[in-house]
Amino acid sequence: MGVADTFRESWATRTGFILAAVGSAVGLGNVWRFPFVVGEAGGAAFLVIYLLFIVLIGLAAILVEFVIGRHTDLNPVGALREFGGSSWRYVGGIFVFTGIVLLSFYAVASGWAIRYTLASLTGAYMDDPGAYFGSISTGWETVGFQLVFMIFVVGIVAFGIRRGIELAVKVMVPAIIALIIGLIIYAVTLPDAGEGFAFYLDPDLSVILSEWHRILPDAAGQAFFTLSLGMGVMITYASYLGEDRNLAEDGGVIIGLDTAIAVAVGLFVFPVLAAAGAQYEEPGAGAVFVSLSQAFGDIQFGAVLGFVFFFVLTIAALSSAISLLEVVVAYLIDEWGLDRKVASIAVGSVIFLVGIPTALDLDVLALYDALAANVLLLLGGIIMVVLVGWLQSEKALAELEKGIDDIGPWGNVWLWTVRGPVLLVLLIAFVLAIIGFVEEVQGFIWG
Ligand code: TRP
Repeated sequence: MGVADTFRESWATRTGFILAAVGSAVGLGNVWRFPFVVGEAGGAAFLVIYLLFIVLIGLAAILVEFVIGRHTDLNPVGALREFGGSSWRYVGGIFVFTGIVLLSFYAVASGWAIRYTLASLTGAYMDDPGAYFGSISTGWETVGFQLVFMIFVVGIVAFGIRRGIELAVKVMVPAIIALIIGLIIYAVTLPDAGEGFAFYLDPDLSVILSEWHRILPDAAGQAFFTLSLGMGVMITYASYLGEDRNLAEDGGVIIGLDTAIAVAVGLFVFPVLAAAGAQYEEPGAGAVFVSLSQAFGDIQFGAVLGFVFFFVLTIAALSSAISLLEVVVAYLIDEWGLDRKVASIAVGSVIFLVGIPTALDLDVLALYDALAANVLLLLGGIIMVVLVGWLQSEKALAELEKGIDDIGPWGNVWLWTVRGPVLLVLLIAFVLAIIGFVEEVQGFIWG
């Protein structure tokens, strides 16, 4: 039981919790990162491995956070202190730090999404998509859009769990799903759509065999990132949950929806790229913005498609960003007794300031990204997996069993999946992430 148990907020409905978790999971990672990671890493071959990781690792890993959160009813710092013992609160501190860094540049990229949504109305990006991305991705105007985005994030979180986050996701997540379905229906009718589908859905076994050393870590990292794992988002959201929930069932629904939405975005992106004769493999942060906006310039009704697509990107980013801010705000409310509105505005302002350098220089953005989205999230994941899987497994298992009628052997299956495969995959991905981060730092220092 948490300290502030009597006044602590909770979700009004099970759907509210599921939609909030899906809203967190579905973000820039699904709509922007997923298609370009798939493109870079060989299309369908990557998709197969990714789906394998989601099934084998994703469910077990999300349950690790759910169990900690619901057992303690606390923010990540308090939760780890209660679950692991007092010195574990420092680990929770890493999560709060990760949340701040992650949201600081996530807001900048989300600001690009707002900008592209508006630019679709005038077709501003269509003449020279590369130059357009270059002109809007950094600078003081970029800071302005970053600020606008942060104001929305703070505005939602300040209203709390039921009247803020739950209400917002009940509108945003269904809207995301409906709009993506609409986009796919149009994409299917495009000329050459079949080519895009083939690249995306027809796995080439030889690509898997020759490229596995690249595909495996990318797929594992993407599976982890897309489920918002590794920094206590799912701890925080599960802390507002009652004891009678079946965590495994809810986790399954959340993962199913996140995966379906990521896969669905690809069903739109690849036919559009094929119809415009664009490259799938374009690497890097600008990839989807540049190649896709080029494609929107080349096909019929491209401006409308562009508007809808970038609007989806914007609200998907918003429903993720609120979960990042909520981690830090919950910490200040639970541990320091701060008022929610004060905490939201204060933290939002700090995060905005921390993010400004990434809005002025893409190399700084890449640096933040390599640190937070790779190194710190994986580190957080490893720590939680060790805590739940090896150090406090009895408590964890007992918590999982609550709300599940007859768990049978599945409790132990879960525990051993966490102890073995999940931990192993995270350790390997972590080593690779450190190497990537060191290269990023060297590149930054030596130009
Ligand atoms: N899952 C989100 C996405 O796919 C990103 C995200 C939001 C996230 N909150 C997170 C990633 C917390 C890791 C941890 O865009």
